[in-house]
Amino acid sequence: MTTLLATRVMPADVDSAAEAARILAAGGLVAFPTETVYGLGADATNGQAVARLYDAKGRPAFNPLIAHVLDLQAAKKLGRFDADAERLAAAFWPGPLTLVLHRAAGCPVAELATAGLDTIAVRVPSHLVARNILKAFGKPVVAPSANRSGHVSPTTAAHVLADLGGRIDLIVDGGATPVGIESTIVACLGAPALLRPGGLPRAAIEQALQQKLSDAPAAGGGDDDAPIAPGLLAAHYAPRTRLRLAIRRVEPGEALLAFGPVPAANAQAAKTALNLSARGDLIEAAANLFSHLRALDDAGAPAIAVMPVPADGLGEAINDRLARAAAGDR
Ligand code: TXA
Ligand code: MG
Repeated sequence: MTTLLATRVMPADVDSAAEAARILAAGGLVAFPTETVYGLGADATNGQAVARLYDAKGRPAFNPLIAHVLDLQAAKKLGRFDADAERLAAAFWPGPLTLVLHRAAGCPVAELATAGLDTIAVRVPSHLVARNILKAFGKPVVAPSANRSGHVSPTTAAHVLADLGGRIDLIVDGGATPVGIESTIVACLGAPALLRPGGLPRAAIEQALQQKLSDAPAAGGGDDDAPIAPGLLAAHYAPRTRLRLAIRRVEPGEALLAFGPVPAANAQAAKTALNLSARGDLIEAAANLFSHLRALDDAGAPAIAVMPVPADGLGEAINDRLARAAAGDR
């Protein structure tokens, strides 16, 4: 049972970092922006705080969390870096890349946070607000996306408040998150494998490694609601409204999630429409994806018709999230 908390919202500034650190140290829950999406932070070394975090999200306890730290040196206290991991950290940290590594000896992260696995997901965020909080706190912070489990990830403080208001202590409002889609997750446990496409395109990673990434053993990518390379359940990021993907024609009364120029007939048929990127820019589209899905979900349309989005660059992650949203049982 979660008791109802008075969730405070503070603008991001020097005071908010100190206040966030104070709450984290007391075992509380603080949502804050990263460059990808808002995270819900807890003291990674405090099992009870981590348990509260699972409870607040309504997240299955077997699904492990990403530990966030300030730099490579701090990351090496948590996980063991092989040559590939070293190369990726040097190329992309701080930034939207999470590495899954073998747990280091003496890793202080609570067992519950890694769901009892002998591996750990580690990330060094670049967002200044996240970094100021990590600096003020001085210990690793586990932070899943700050949404209720199975909902779309939040890219604004208002999204976090809508999902988690009354369930967490503090939201640090640093405006909309610039990347808008979660970090790319790469396992460095042998041949490097892509576990979840995300804010850092596959091609950039393969270029840095000078080799292809293998795909995750089970389903490839994932997030909140699953076991194995844990988050690999198909149904995820589920709005309540049914999604129709890669549509050519909008049925009258549907909500339209557009990409690029919209044919006039479709614009007319749609009850309401939002464009991920009118100029067909995948980076802009990623940044808009979750907030547009949320807004269209609230439109009361029988379905959300989604125009095709190309699969290159960030399009891989966008299509992955759309497919998960469409697969939800409802
Ligand atoms: O951009 C992001 O990564 C955001 C921000 C807040 O940092 N965080 C985020 O966390 O998306 P979350 O918990 O929503 O997704 C983390 C994913 C889950 O699918 C989880 O199963 C996977 O990472 N994961 C965590 N630890 C893992 C491990 N040891 N092995 C395999 N997958 C792991
Ligand atoms: Mg998530």
